[in-house]
Amino acid sequence: MRLTDRMTTQPANSILIVDFGSQVTQLIARRVREAGVYSEIAPFTLAEAAFERMRPSGVILSGSPASVLDADAPRIPDAILESGLPMLGICYGQQALMHQLGGEVTGGDGGEFGRAFIEISDGCSLFDGLWSEGERHQVWMSHGDKVTRLAEGFRPVAASSGAPFAVIADEARQIYAMQFHPEVVHTPDGAKLLANFVCHVCGLAGDWTMAEFRKAKIEEIRAQVGSGRVICGLSGGVDSAVAAVLIHEAIGEQLTCVYVDHGLMRLGESEQVVSLFRGHYNIPLVHVDVSALFLGGLAGVTDPEAKRKFIGKTFIDVFEAEARKIGGAEFLAQGTLYPDVIESVSFTGGPSVTIKSHHNVGGLPERMDMKLVEPLRELFKDEVRALGRELGLPEVFVGRHPFPGPGLAIRIPGEVTRERCDTLRKADAVYLEEIRNAGLYDAIWQAFAVLLPVKTVGVMGDGRTYDNVCALRAVTSTDGMTADIYPFDAAFLSRVATRIINEVKGINRVVYDYTSKPPGTIEWE
Ligand code: XMP
Repeated sequence: MRLTDRMTTQPANSILIVDFGSQVTQLIARRVREAGVYSEIAPFTLAEAAFERMRPSGVILSGSPASVLDADAPRIPDAILESGLPMLGICYGQQALMHQLGGEVTGGDGGEFGRAFIEISDGCSLFDGLWSEGERHQVWMSHGDKVTRLAEGFRPVAASSGAPFAVIADEARQIYAMQFHPEVVHTPDGAKLLANFVCHVCGLAGDWTMAEFRKAKIEEIRAQVGSGRVICGLSGGVDSAVAAVLIHEAIGEQLTCVYVDHGLMRLGESEQVVSLFRGHYNIPLVHVDVSALFLGGLAGVTDPEAKRKFIGKTFIDVFEAEARKIGGAEFLAQGTLYPDVIESVSFTGGPSVTIKSHHNVGGLPERMDMKLVEPLRELFKDEVRALGRELGLPEVFVGRHPFPGPGLAIRIPGEVTRERCDTLRKADAVYLEEIRNAGLYDAIWQAFAVLLPVKTVGVMGDGRTYDNVCALRAVTSTDGMTADIYPFDAAFLSRVATRIINEVKGINRVVYDYTSKPPGTIEWE
């Protein structure tokens, strides 16, 4: 997949995706995977070498921020263009095909951006079983330049108001191209078009599975790491757990996991991590209980950013010290996912990518001079979960809601104390138990309780109470960037409120947070 130069094995019957620098190239790979076909992405600068090595059954050419009209525009390598293999050009990929095969591309006068409709003027293999002549379909356009004359052998099969050659086909050479982006969800039939290309046009069976991704990744990890040592920071979350289990399968005892227990985890979480890794997988695990250090440092701290900074810095200090104790390592494993990879390959440069810096152990690789092992970086959350299941991780781990690095500290506005952490842990556990009992856990992206620094008056039995308010949060989301509140019914919320107030000492009032993101964030701090 990415880092093709490091791959040592790949199945026959694969698709090469040539990346010209589009922000959504990874989505093409995802759609091809969903169609059950193995693919690798190669930046256009390394595409010819990847092509020779892979001997793919077809090639997909991505979009790009570049223009084919620029002097130094990225080009399709001749070896690929002249290979006679089925090809699919997307957006820039279409324009590059036309530019290099003798058609014409024109820039300037008003492109199309966003939702558009195309009219199907003729059938072609790409549309088989999907679109027919005379139909109108929604697609997602994002182009400034457009094709204005077709290269020999091509005919138009669909047009939009801004792109007369919205889809073109040369059935004899099995080359297809489209001005719109089939890989994004805003093209509702896009995944099916891509599946038609890889299965129908390229003739692939569509039987590739996560089991094979696992095998290919294991080879890749072995090739990268050699006889080196790897350390992996576990957070209790699914990403680092899946990364660690996969790497352990690849290199066994060369991997050591470090679990920095900052005392801000949910109820039973630390025990689960330790028993899963030591007991179930027999993976070397260093468990450091540094809750006293963290809670001591958080005493008196109420500003959210100050909490985050202290936790981030202390986490790195502890992790670094533990790594030194075990004799250091050349590699640091991280469970970075594709949504964390914010910058695609630059269209003039090599395969380097930039990572968001807010990751749990961000800052460590430079400080400790370590190289990164990130086997999940082309996957999305649901794919990581599928890989976790493939690796035999228990469902309680694999399906777990995301949990932030700073843990409960950012769910306790005001000062964080051990006592307040204990109170919150209990309320949170009751809430999640009720959500699981109601069969709602998997329908929710994230649900958690927040302990407010607000006391209210209540009455229990014959007595007056003066205790804390607990807020409940539950959101749906696809990537955590935006979120909607989960619309529980009133009976459910009232059941949870009653249980928390009855069972958790220190809480006498429960409220539900009705704020979407934006304008709110998911966490309270
Ligand atoms: P917000 O609160 O910004 O959160 O809407 C979006 C998603 O990110 C998680 N989150 C974090 N994850 N370290 C993490 O690993 C952090 O510092 C952090 N802060 C927020 C949050 O739980 C939600 O899933």
